[in-house]
Amino acid sequence: MLLQEKVALITGAASGLGRAQAIEYAKEGAKVILSDVNAEGLAETEKLIKDNNGTVLSIVADVSKKEDVHSMINKALEEFGTVDICVNNAAILADFKASLDITEEEWDKIMAVNVKGVYLLTNEILPHMLEKGKGTFINVASIGGTIAGVGDAAYITSKHAVVGYTKQLTFNYAKDGIRAVALCPGLIDTPMVQYAIEQDRPEVVRQIESIPSKHIGRSEEVAYFSVYLASDKAKHINGVEMKIDGGQSIS
Ligand SMILES: NC(=O)c1ccc[n+]([C@@H]2O[C@H](COP(=O)([O-])OP(=O)(O)OC[C@H]3O[C@@H](n4cnc5c(N)ncnc54)[C@H](O)[C@@H]3O)[C@@H](O)[C@H]2O)c1
Repeated sequence: MLLQEKVALITGAASGLGRAQAIEYAKEGAKVILSDVNAEGLAETEKLIKDNNGTVLSIVADVSKKEDVHSMINKALEEFGTVDICVNNAAILADFKASLDITEEEWDKIMAVNVKGVYLLTNEILPHMLEKGKGTFINVASIGGTIAGVGDAAYITSKHAVVGYTKQLTFNYAKDGIRAVALCPGLIDTPMVQYAIEQDRPEVVRQIESIPSKHIGRSEEVAYFSVYLASDKAKHINGVEMKIDGGQSIS
């Protein structure tokens, strides 16, 4: 198993890619700490993992709130003594709005969750990892962290920020045993975009058309890739965007 003896914390674990990664990490031997603002969804993910004999701790927390993030890490360290892998996955999207259609409140909220949340959680756990001389961050960005047109103006900005932040983490801390990878999925069939797929929204129809195979990715496929990236087998992958998009971003 690729993640035997590892402890992994995954945000946004109540749904979509967070849930899929949590399930796959647990199958690969990791003890998983699940976090989300959605307590009900979190309980469902916890049940799915426990039914499969996984070891799991669930914590309801908002990644954009420093006090939540602080107490989440305290609880995680109390329970498991360490966190080896931090998957910064929680994020929100404001449909496919252009800049003029995004309110200041929406902009601030997206930046708070998608960017500040990553920074807050990273800074909370980084000192512990530095003390151990080892730690891995899987920062779930998006191909929207490298191209435009796959989300709203604030979301695209936030995902570019996550990619940049990931590079800087590697630049500053790789020498101390830290790895940070920006995991960049293309269009994946999760609740974040399902409504738009079901409504045949032009923004997603165009995205599907731009995937050479015309197949939308599945959360499990992203989860398998994430497991590999988080594992010691990927130790030379650091500070880069790793795309999983079926070729969506090649043209
Ligand atoms: N689905 C896609 O096509 C796609 C493509 C590229 C990147 N991504 C990225 O993958 C990640 C997961 O997205 P998803 O598609 O599974 O979406 P999703 O909406 O299904 O899941 C996101 C989860 O984050 C949680 N969340 C929202 N705000 C939070 C907060 N403040 N604190 C803690 N948790 C919070 C939600 O409750 C939800 O459970 C995101 O970073 C997203 O940007 C998704």
